[in-house]
Amino acid sequence: MGVRKRMGLKFKDEIAFLKGWKRDRTAVGAITPTSNATARKMASVVTPESGLPVLELGPGTGVITKGILARGIRPQDLISIEYSSDFCRHLRQEFPGVDIRCGDAFALDLALGAQRDAKFDCVISAIPLLHLPSERRRTLVIDLLERVPVGRPVVQITYGLLSPVVALPAGYEARHLAFMMRNIPPAQLWIYRKTW
Ligand SMILES: C[S@@+](CC[C@H](N)C(=O)[O-])C[C@H]1O[C@@H](n2cnc3c(N)ncnc32)[C@H](O)[C@@H]1O
Repeated sequence: MGVRKRMGLKFKDEIAFLKGWKRDRTAVGAITPTSNATARKMASVVTPESGLPVLELGPGTGVITKGILARGIRPQDLISIEYSSDFCRHLRQEFPGVDIRCGDAFALDLALGAQRDAKFDCVISAIPLLHLPSERRRTLVIDLLERVPVGRPVVQITYGLLSPVVALPAGYEARHLAFMMRNIPPAQLWIYRKTW
């Protein structure tokens, strides 16, 4: 891909991002798209050899979507759930084979429909959590962990210092994955797992 095309794509991504951000700052939760370095780090947990699909939440402009596909996941094995219809339209053009669902990560059974009982290799989430009550965040992560095998991760990006999900019950763990300076603003990555 030539430089102009690359720049064209980036410009389009930023426009889509800013439109979404202007409309609903709470739901978008960041001021610029995730950096490629952060997207690669989040996607590094994906294990294509598991043969399981991957679930992405809040793909936005698709930077992390691209990172997940670069791990060798086939587009048809990636379900990405995005709240904003503008981003959904953009993502469907950009990633024609990926299963983009316009829906709410907090109503996953509805968004997943026939795949509501599917097991995923992992969940990669960029949805903002910090504006939500902590009980709601915990319930979401516990719900997500029911959808991956024991030991497999839910990865969450956040702009706070601490894990956005705390006080998980016994049998669950939260681990810091990385602090990404190469991101605007700098971001923290957390991993949640069921241990048994
Ligand atoms: C911080 S932005 C994602 C940034 C993305 N990684 C990028 O670089 O473009 C958060 C995204 O989550 C979406 N979102 C927020 N709440 C959501 C929800 N409950 N369900 C699905 N998507 C949601 C927003 O519309 C937005 O696209």
